[in-house]
Amino acid sequence: MHAALTDGFGRLHDSLRISVTDRCNIRCFYCMPEDAGNFQPREEILTFEEIERVVRVAAGLGVNKLRITGGEPLLRRDLPVLIAKLAAVPGIADLALTTNGVLLEKLAAPLRQAGLSRLNIHLDTLDRERFRQITRRDDFEKVMRGIDAACAAGFRSVKINAVAVKNLVEPDIVPLARFGRERGIEIRYIEFMPLDSQSLWDRSKVLLMDTMLAMLTREIGPLTAVPDQDPRAPATEFRFNDGNGRVGFVASVSKPFCLNCNRLRLTADGHLRNCLFAIGETPVKHLLRDGSPDEAIAIAIRANVREKWIGHQINTAGFVPPPRPMYSIGG
Ligand code: 5AD
Ligand code: SF4
Repeated sequence: MHAALTDGFGRLHDSLRISVTDRCNIRCFYCMPEDAGNFQPREEILTFEEIERVVRVAAGLGVNKLRITGGEPLLRRDLPVLIAKLAAVPGIADLALTTNGVLLEKLAAPLRQAGLSRLNIHLDTLDRERFRQITRRDDFEKVMRGIDAACAAGFRSVKINAVAVKNLVEPDIVPLARFGRERGIEIRYIEFMPLDSQSLWDRSKVLLMDTMLAMLTREIGPLTAVPDQDPRAPATEFRFNDGNGRVGFVASVSKPFCLNCNRLRLTADGHLRNCLFAIGETPVKHLLRDGSPDEAIAIAIRANVREKWIGHQINTAGFVPPPRPMYSIGG
């Protein structure tokens, strides 16, 4: 085993997020334009074998957590085959996936059987009309069936990710939390971040964690911060004091957590990124395709981590959005 992956600020990197496609079957406005069509051609996308190789090398450098993302990862054909390959890599202790849930009804059980341990499902609203407005698709019922299938499949955890956009989802905050309490699902509210492809973001459009916490306290009841939280997990978690359920907030804008970041990313087209908001990337695809040894991949991973900056600059006047939108970075 090599020395651990540490960046210039002493942050240990042991978590890799892997985008398996930049395509998506819905069109959430804060991520994709309605007429998105600028997808990578198939030959630019890493094969399962190439992804597995990067993971093996990364695991040798101390990476032990993986999360599969997209675009929408369930669009990748035979995804359970990849999950089984990655679950078998020595050193990988935790294998999670983030999906929009549209194709989950049929895939939940096969993914669980292949070795996927945790699932996050993206859902901003329980209102079918607002779902259509946000995603520009009428797939609300499919997502609900996907959630049912996920709950029945025996994952170690099923969570819901809801993007918090001001003047839009206020009516959804409390119903989602109630739904989570009924089903034993943690809702994670994610502050709207400047990752859309159309520059729609500005600070005034972010529904902030403290505002949502106040809504939940008023309408449902008091909450208490969960004491034994993993300091490197992005979400700040709270328990309802009545003992029924918890919620989490990914407060990237109001309470940035960059100082605890342990994550690096692999894009579907084979680039390493050390931050969601990184401007630069480290290509690895050419190394996978030109016969380079594992050591060359390890050097690329180390270099990418070493170059990591202290954190995103969302809250500064000089903020520059990343050159790729969310769907091609992989949340
Ligand atoms: N701001 C915050 N979260 C976003 N996501 C997608 N776009 C944005 C954005 N602009 C979230 C979705 C998805 C996860 C991968 O990233 O909830 O589940
Ligand atoms: Fe698709 Fe996820 Fe982007 Fe929504 S946020 S358009 S589900 S990739």
